[in-house]
Parts: sequence; C-alpha cells; structure tokens
Amino acid sequence: MNKTYYVTTPIYYPSAKAHIGHTYCTVNTDALARYKRLKGFDVFFLTGTDEHGQKIERKAAEAGVSPQEYVDKITAEFKKLWKLMDISNDGFIRTTDKQHMECVQKVFDRLCEQGDIYKSEYEGNYCTQCEAFWTDTQLKDAGGACPDCGRPTELAKEEAYFLRVSKYAPRLIQHIRDNPDFIQPVSRANEMLNNFLLPGAEDLCVTRSTFKWGVPVSFDSRHVIYVWIDAVLNYLSALGYLSDDDSLYRRFWPADVHIVGKEIVRFHTIIWPVVLMALDLPLPRKVYGHGWLMLDGDKMSKSKGNVVDPFVLVERYGVDAVRYFLLSEFPFGQDGNFDNRTLITRINSDLANDLGNLLSRTVAMIDRYFGGVVPCPVCPVAEEDEALKDSARALSARIDGAMDAIHPNVALQEIFRTVGLCNKYIDITAPWVLAKDESKRERLGTVLYNLAECLRIIGVALQPFLTNTPKRMFEQLGVTDAQLMRFDSIEPDCFGSLPEGTVVCKGDALFPRIDAEAELAYLDDMLERQRAEAQTANAEAPTQAEELEKEEKPLITYDDFAKLDLRLARVVECTEVKKSKHLLNLTLDVRGEKRTVLSGIRDWMKPEELVGKNVVLVYNLAPRKMCGIESQGMILCASDEGDVHLSPLTTMTEMESGAGIR
Ligand code: ME8
Repeated sequence: MNKTYYVTTPIYYPSAKAHIGHTYCTVNTDALARYKRLKGFDVFFLTGTDEHGQKIERKAAEAGVSPQEYVDKITAEFKKLWKLMDISNDGFIRTTDKQHMECVQKVFDRLCEQGDIYKSEYEGNYCTQCEAFWTDTQLKDAGGACPDCGRPTELAKEEAYFLRVSKYAPRLIQHIRDNPDFIQPVSRANEMLNNFLLPGAEDLCVTRSTFKWGVPVSFDSRHVIYVWIDAVLNYLSALGYLSDDDSLYRRFWPADVHIVGKEIVRFHTIIWPVVLMALDLPLPRKVYGHGWLMLDGDKMSKSKGNVVDPFVLVERYGVDAVRYFLLSEFPFGQDGNFDNRTLITRINSDLANDLGNLLSRTVAMIDRYFGGVVPCPVCPVAEEDEALKDSARALSARIDGAMDAIHPNVALQEIFRTVGLCNKYIDITAPWVLAKDESKRERLGTVLYNLAECLRIIGVALQPFLTNTPKRMFEQLGVTDAQLMRFDSIEPDCFGSLPEGTVVCKGDALFPRIDAEAELAYLDDMLERQRAEAQTANAEAPTQAEELEKEEKPLITYDDFAKLDLRLARVVECTEVKKSKHLLNLTLDVRGEKRTVLSGIRDWMKPEELVGKNVVLVYNLAPRKMCGIESQGMILCASDEGDVHLSPLTTMTEMESGAGIR
C-alpha cells in the first residue's frame, strides 16, 4: 500500500468572486498535491466553499436572492476557476452539502452529550465581518478594533452553547511544544502560544441565534452552529466521517497538512484541535500559515476594489504563466506584493527567454546538425559537462527538500538554476562553432545530448508546477515513454536515460514574449476600473461593517499622524489620461519641484477647473504606476455619502505652494 497524503486548502467564503489571493493558495496547494502524487503517494487533495454565516445571509439579502441561490452561483465560479487553473483536487466540499451538515450536527450532539459543549449566556465583542467574538484583552491589544480585520466590533448578547476550550488548552499547549512541526512557519506557533493560549484560553461560544443561515442545532433549532465549527469540520465530513461510507476517513485521517492563510491559523490550531481532542481523534500533522498577497501594500479585498482577476490574467497569458508567477515569486510563508510589472517581467525573462529559448534553440540545433535525431554522447567528459550534469543530478533531492518544507518557490528556483546553467553551457560550448569543424562532431553530439537530457529532466521536474509546459516540452523533445516522465527517472543515477536516436519535433515557442508597456497600461486601467466599480458598489450598498468603518476609525497617536508629509501644491497643468475613464493627470509644483499625480476625480472635476489652484498633496506616499504613468503622491478631496459631490481641498487664504500642513 502506498503511503497516503491528505492535503487541504481553506474552504473559501463564496461571498464574492474568487480573486488572485484565493488562487495563490489553491495553486500552491495543488503543486504540493501533484508533487506528492509524482512521488508515489496516495493523495487526497480537498478544497471547497464555506457557505454559511451572517455575512453570506446579508450579501444574499442585498442581492435580493436566497442564501442558497447566492452561494450556488459563486461556488460555481470557484469551481470554474479551479478547472481553468488545472487544479487537481480530489474532493470539493460545500458546507451546505447534506453529508457535511449531518456530520456537523452529529459532532455537536456528541460533544453536548459528553459535556464538552454546554449551554450558558454570552455577551461580547462581535465582529460581523469575521464572524468572530473577541475577548476584551484581544480587543485592547488590537487598539479597540477587531484584531483580524481592524473594523469596529459590536456588543452582542445571547443565550448560547460553549465549547470547553479551557479544558483542552493545557494538552494543546503541550502538543504545540512537543511537535515543533505542527504549526509552520514556526513564528506562527509562537504567536498562537503567546497571544492566545498562554494568557488563558477561554471557552468559546459555538452557536448563534441572531441569524438563521447555518447548520441548526439538532435539538434546539433557535440556534445555528458557529460558522467556524461548521467550517473546520469540512476536513472530516468530506472524508465521510460519521456517514454510511467512511472509507476515505479511515484511509486519510489525520490530514498531513492544512494549508491556510496566516489570518486563520488561529482557528486551525486552537479551535480545530480542541474539537478533535474532544472527539478523541488524532490532530492534523501540520498547519501551514502562508502569507498574503498584497496590492500596493494592502491586502486584496473585493470591497477595496484592489483585487486582481485571475480569469483575465489566464486569458491573456495562459495558465502556466500565471501558475508560474504565483508559485515562484513569493516565499510562501511571507507576505508578497503583487504587481503587474513583475508578473510580465518574470514571464518574459524566465519563461519566454530562459526556458522557451533554451528548448527551441536545442531542438533547432539537433534538427539542423543531426537531422532531428538526438545524437549519442560519446565524447570524453569536459569540465563544463560535469557542472551541468551535477546540477541536473542534484535537482530531484533539492526539490524534495524544498517541497518537504512547503517552499514551492525554492523548488522552482532550483529548476530554473539548471535552466540558467544550460544557457550558460550553450554559451561556453558554442555548438555553432563546433558545427563548423567536422573533427568536433562527436563533441557537438555530446553537447546537444546533454542539453536534450537536461531539458527532459527540467520537464519532469516542472510537472507539479506547470501543467501544459512539460507536455509540450516532451513533445518537442520526442519523449513519449511514460517511464521517462516519472519523477524517479530524474534520480541522480538516471542521467542519460534519454535514448539516443530519439526524434525531436520543432514546435511553437513555449511562451510568446509580451509587449510589456502595452500590457501594463491595459492591466493598470483594468484595476482602476475595478476600484471605481467597487467605490460605486460600496456607495450603493455599503455593508453594516463598512458603514461603521466609515464613521469610526480606530484612534491614532500623534506619531501616527506625523508620519504623513502633507504639503500645499499648485496645479500647473492638468490633462485627462487617455487610457482611463476616471483619471486626471496633474502636474504639481511644490516649491519649484514638479510632481506628476494621477487622481480618479474626472467624474467631478474638469482639468481647466484645477489649473492654477492649490491642492493638498500627500507628499510622502509611495509612488504607484497606473496606466503606465507613475503617480507620485495623492491629492486630498472631500466627498459626501455615495460620492455625489467631491471637491479637492485647498486653503482659505492664498498661500505659497510647498507650505507644510500640520
Ligand atoms: O477565511 N493573499 O475564507 P476566505 C493570499 N471560510 N491568500 C489569500 C488572500 C490574499 N490576499 N486572500 C484570501 C475563510 N486568501 C474561511 C476559511 S477554512 C475551514 C474556512 C486565501 O474566503 C488564504 O488562504 O476569507 C486565506 O486564508 C483564505 O483565502 C481565506 O478565504
């Protein structure tokens, strides 16, 4: 029997369309699942959607449809996206599935029967956005707002059921200490211990009676089960736990790793283990909290309008280019900034140039000098051959190391190091010079063989990460034997497995080069449109939390305020940005210094109304490119509810440009 491997993503809220952040997590988990399958593991890879809760109930009401209709539509979009991204999940769980809901009720009943869940009354600080209650200490540490999302919380009081977290906390603390691998990266383990467990974990309120959209408590239908208890149980219910057929559960539990974003590590390493301990089940072997993709330093979120649409990116650059970027650019445990320029640069340099050209040059040279037939490596080994072969031979172990540590970006770095060495090898050996000298024919054959074999190895190694490219590489290299595509065919002693006499087949470029400037202008404009749409949508139907957010922001200190460098600036020129419907391009004079600032105020202001006026400039705002133009700051405006009226700020008396604002 093969060793099993059970890996999961979070189940996402179908409260808004999937964005590149969800795609980031799912693609990285997919690479892990594919890698394990290639290593011979019996893998179960689960993803899904978390469909209950007040947020969804509210969104559905705003949209004028039932919650079920609402989630059906968005969940279908998630599924479509995973198909498009070639996600190889074995299961897709929805928390509205009958089997799941029954499982949740049975677990709840059982924990009540054994006294691990009890009835009492709850009064606390509730964040509707995160569906979470917070203790006073947690709120205080977070400056009075929700520690997860920073929004204000509401006081809520209700009769409720509680989970005895306090009873299991000492065992959990011991478990975390005894198993340094349980929570990864390790900094997150310290955070859980120091911020949540060691200060004294309180019992957790696990039911709600203020809304209906959830799994009802089987014996007390006024209450629905807290969405996080409902959600985490997906990892068991999807395997058929407590159902008529629990064979998957018996085969795959405990999970090898739950991949989750860093903001939900808490739920997976405190609430979930406590539920499992109460059920007397083994804990997952690992919870990995990955970092966030940020856009301009802000976490992506639909309501901020700063999400990147994965459908658009795939349509323009293809699945493998997008997968490559998401897998290689960001260290998985850390936050990373998503920006379009880096995306396009990486596609052009790594995929089109380094990998694509390497393949087409190698195949073209085998075609030209050996009639398309891979030659025999007969020549004595030269120093440069050894360096190249060493790197190819070391690849499989290096990928193993990186993937065991859940660092797909490091695995890809290793693969592309070999790609780089192949390109260097071409430069050093200069096959086109060898080809001119008949006495060097054997050397030429050896060089081209080594390149073709390295490309086969690279193709095999890329299989967990890219889903079309390896196949296309094998086609062009003439590799048809499935044995030569297996991961064990790139073990160190397998170098040379590509048979001489293999017939290569010239094909299209793996990745066409992208016209970077044109694409950047397109993508920036799209983002600008999304922002404007989000602004309009928020103005039309602000959620309660967003309304609160507008009114009440957390207190800041003078030091926070003093970080802003605000200056008066004179508008010396102003034009419309051609590629955008919303932006004006302002040239500002700040005591002799010229600044270009883009501002999305075209719906309210004409360029000629601004020229000659003084405005308030955020002078030390990090520059940002929009529509191919760098905006060096931001001007401040006042706007009323729904942005019906908007006016840039200025001074009551005429002042010199450059004056400081304090
Ligand atoms: O939290 N960067 O669902 P969710 C990287 N339903 N990853 C991101 C991201 C970003 N900007 N935005 C989202 C929930 N993610 C719960 C989970 S699990 C039992 C229940 C990813 O729709 C990241 O993995 O808010 C994050 O944890 C997850 O999406 C949250 O998705």
